[in-house]
This record gives sequence, C-alpha cells and structure tokens, in this order.
Amino acid sequence: MKHYLSVQDIDSLDHWVEEARDLKEDPKKHKNLGSDKTIGLLFFNNSLRTRLSTQKAAMNLGMEVIVMNFGSEGWALEYADGTVMDQGTSEHIKEAAQVVSQYCDIIAIRAFAGLKDKEEDEAEKVLNGFKKYASVPIVNMESSVGHPLQALADAITLAEQNTKARPKVVLSWAPHPKALPHAVANSFVEMMHLQDADFVITHPEGYELNPEITKGATIEYDQKKACENADFIYVKNWSSYSDYGKVLNQDKNWTMTPEKVGKAKFMHCLPVRRNVVVADAVLDGDRSLVIEQANNRTYAAQIVLKKILEQ
Ligand code: CP
Repeated sequence: MKHYLSVQDIDSLDHWVEEARDLKEDPKKHKNLGSDKTIGLLFFNNSLRTRLSTQKAAMNLGMEVIVMNFGSEGWALEYADGTVMDQGTSEHIKEAAQVVSQYCDIIAIRAFAGLKDKEEDEAEKVLNGFKKYASVPIVNMESSVGHPLQALADAITLAEQNTKARPKVVLSWAPHPKALPHAVANSFVEMMHLQDADFVITHPEGYELNPEITKGATIEYDQKKACENADFIYVKNWSSYSDYGKVLNQDKNWTMTPEKVGKAKFMHCLPVRRNVVVADAVLDGDRSLVIEQANNRTYAAQIVLKKILEQ
C-alpha cells in the first residue's frame, strides 16, 4: 500500500480487522519492522487521540517519530500554482512536501475542512498537495472529507463487540454548538458499506451527508424509530452539507439518552460534549464503548503503518 488516504484504500476490511486484533494481543510483535525509519506527524489542527495513538503505533513498530504542529508553527503554505506570493503565504507546498520527505519515510497529516467553501474542502488541497509533491507514503489523520483511521478503529470495535450475523447499526446526528466537519461521519458510512449490517443513518432534515457517500444507505428522519432494536448507536454531530458548514439547529431532542440507547452499545469518536451530544448516563454507563474505540486507534494506525512498511 502506497498511501492510506481513505477507507477505499482498505483492500479487505475483514483481514485488516483480524490482523489489527492480532496486533492488539501482541503490540510489539513487529517491533523491528520500522527500525531506522521515521514518521512525521504534521498537525494543522488539534488532536489528542490521533496524535498519541499514531505515535504509539509507530513506536510499537520501532519507528522514530517527529511531530510538528504545522498549522501554528510552520510557515503559511501556498497551494495554488503560478501564484505571485506577495500576500500571506510564505512557502509553497511544492518545496514543503519535498523537504519533509527528506526527513521522513512516512508523512501523516491532519488538516480539517474549513467549512466555508465546499469545493475547496473537497479538493483536499493539503492532503493532495502532500500526495502530489512528497516522495514518501502519506497517511490521512483526518482530512476535510475523511477520517479513515477512526473508521478502521470503529470497525475493530464493532468486530470485538458484535455477536450477531447482521447487527443493526445506527449513525445518529446529535446537536453541537459549533459547526463540525463531516469527515468522521463520511468515513463511518464508507466503512459500513463494507460490512454486512442493517445500517441506518438518522438526522434532522437539512443534515443529509454527501449523497455520493450515503448512496444505498437507509435514512430515517425519526431518531427514536431509527434507534429501535439497534445493536450499536454511533453518535456524531456534523454541520449541514447542503447549506455548507452551517449549524441549522441545536435541537436538544436529538441528544442521545439512555431511553433511546436501550440495549444498544454506544459509540462516539471523542472528544464529546457531555449533556449536549450525549447524556452523562450513557457515557458513564456500561453500554459505552468510547474508551475502547480510542484504545483501538493505536491498532488501526499500527496495521496501516505495518502495511506501508511492508511494501
Ligand atoms: N477521534 C479523534 O480523532 O480524536 P482527536 O481529534 O483527539 O485526535
């Protein structure tokens, strides 16, 4: 595997999940695979889980790790060709990507959507800029439109917890005071397309995700109905896609409660706003999988890095 940019780069989800679960049993099994190799983790946005779990995964494989908060500490990058750079940008992605490639054998990048301009976000200028000009593999640590490391960790968590041949899995929108990107929800939907499950997406009208991504999925606008008899309920806020980046409502009736969760297991990628997105009683209850999801981020990253190092 040359790059890990989206869920589409997973050639067999079942095999990857199986291998990740093996790694979880013995994380240092391949502790020399990455010796003498360096990964650069470039953050244009904040992180807790992605930063630490990807670093931990690389260390488990014997890699050296360089971390840079590129967004706040690096030069402001220019992405357009032929620009007269007499305004705010100081360095072109062409040089930056080539230079970082000299220091690193793998480059991992976090660069969120700006949520102002759909076309610009979907062009993925940071991720694709590094892919175009770097000479080493690129890993997506959450881009404008996808968070494939999170989706892979979620697939591991589902596999560990599922007891049915065809579980009912619900992806539910929840309220949030700020406009959030679609990346986690998009990659979760893409990952669920690869699973044998009764998959339902529920959200208020106006919060439809990119129809190209949700094509074929069941959409139910009644959250309570969607959650009936669910085995897993994955909650996430996202801003409007059609009215791009807007917060259309903050309806507290969509907050996830113990009543709606019922006998299902509760999932969320974290960080989460308590008693806005989900009630304390759900997060603190024994149906919550959120801490194990975060734990599985290490093994998701480790299987991705292992596959790249084995090329
Ligand atoms: N879920 C997730 O990506 O967490 P961080 O934003 O803290 O990395």
